[in-house]
Amino acid sequence: MTSHDPDAPHSSAYFGGQRDHWWNKDYLELLARRWQLDTVRTVLDVGCGIGHWGMLLASVLPAQSQVVGVERDGRSVRRARERARERDLPGQFDYRVGVAEDLPFDDATFDLVTCQTLLIHVPDVGQVISEMRRVVKPGGLLIVAEPNNVASLMVATSRDLGESLAARVERMQFVLTCERGKVVLGEGDNSVGDLVPGIPGASRSDRCRDLRQRQGICSRAALRLRRPARAAHRITRRLRETQMGLVTG
Ligand SMILES: C[S@@+](CC[C@H](N)C(=O)[O-])C[C@H]1O[C@@H](n2cnc3c(N)ncnc32)[C@H](O)[C@@H]1O
Repeated sequence: MTSHDPDAPHSSAYFGGQRDHWWNKDYLELLARRWQLDTVRTVLDVGCGIGHWGMLLASVLPAQSQVVGVERDGRSVRRARERARERDLPGQFDYRVGVAEDLPFDDATFDLVTCQTLLIHVPDVGQVISEMRRVVKPGGLLIVAEPNNVASLMVATSRDLGESLAARVERMQFVLTCERGKVVLGEGDNSVGDLVPGIPGASRSDRCRDLRQRQGICSRAALRLRRPARAAHRITRRLRETQMGLVTG
């Protein structure tokens, strides 16, 4: 269990070297081929934290690509800039303070817009996706890598063999109570990864690939956009309805 410092930047307890190994390099290269990332020159990493995901992704992008990270926590933005300097790559990465619900960029700015473990922390997923769609170029790519953290907490491992059923049920009840509390407080929904494959389905004209990795219980969906703004309202409504169901159900 990670100790919680209420003054620490959001999610900082989960930042660190291990986050650079969430993605196996071979797998990332395979995805880059399937997603045709060789054509990408401009990237936006939304809710970038200290830059783990954008930097990993950059390792399979053309060398001349530019990655902009936007993040609401100023301390994380400063740390992301430091990390880019430490890697001698300050020219490739540009980190700014901003919020995902109101991205500080013009329409159709980026070839690729992406996020990792951001949607599970926002109260209005539809608004964030709508903004991500707005700033991606027509024909560009939206990649969202979002887990179902609740499902992964439910998975029993060999370390749990000694735990009684009653203790396990009690632990699950505690976890699920916290999860519902998070939704009610408007701090996001840790199960939202389940919805990720359905999000692109809202637009028939967009080409979607759902890359689900069962082991990590994580959805990684890639969506090639034809008409970026078209399905935003339907997506928002659908997600709101689903979140309401979670709160009351
Ligand atoms: C779990 S971290 C993920 C960081 C990064 N994407 C990665 O994978 O390493 C979530 C990040 O999203 C940021 N965040 C949460 N809500 C946000 C919002 N509405 N707008 C911008 N950033 C947000 C948090 O401050 C935090 O840095």
